[in-house]
Amino acid sequence: MKFFVDTAEIDAIAELNDLGMVDGVTTNPSLIMKSGRDIIEVTKEICALVDGPVSAEVVATEADAMIEEGLKLAEIAENIAIKVPLTWAGLKACKAFSERGHMVNVTLCFSANQALLAAKAGASFISPFIGRLDDVNLDGMELISDIRQIYDNYDFQTEILAASIRTVNHVTESALIGADVITAPPGVIKKLADHPLTDKGLEAFLADWAKTGQKIV
Ligand code: E4P
Repeated sequence: MKFFVDTAEIDAIAELNDLGMVDGVTTNPSLIMKSGRDIIEVTKEICALVDGPVSAEVVATEADAMIEEGLKLAEIAENIAIKVPLTWAGLKACKAFSERGHMVNVTLCFSANQALLAAKAGASFISPFIGRLDDVNLDGMELISDIRQIYDNYDFQTEILAASIRTVNHVTESALIGADVITAPPGVIKKLADHPLTDKGLEAFLADWAKTGQKIV
């Protein structure tokens, strides 16, 4: 399973990238706003830091304008995945980008039928938003599972990018279902290493080690 980091904060990306935990990055207009940076400048820095796909999102709502924006974003670097919303205009732009050989991430997916359309439009990634479905008392993981089954039934090559991940359990469940990628905030990725029994066990080992009076180096 690939790990994408869901942020536009360069330091956080760099820290996880140094640990070999970053297969790609996703951004969106809200994350760009939070970074306080210019979209072109910050995206260029992210693309230089990370080898894998870096999603940069269009903000136009009409297909022609989306295509114009997406082509400008694609000029930033080879590893740009143009991110478009799951609307008919977004699907039209997706088809145009994929025919030109660009990676496309279709975002704001909340149903299996939407995911089916994205695959047919040539999306490289489909982004079902787990957390936002959970927020309205729907089952985000059920959606991931449905899309997995549909894509496998027809051998669609579009990768399932489980998005809007809020908890470590979302990561586990996405992996069990077979999502190709998760994108999560740096804080969630860091929490994956946490376990109270690891902390307790380490404390006990270190206490016993101190009693030996030994040193390894
Ligand atoms: C994914 O590409 C989105 O940027 C992101 O996962 C949305 O997450 P949120 O619902 O926590 O804002």
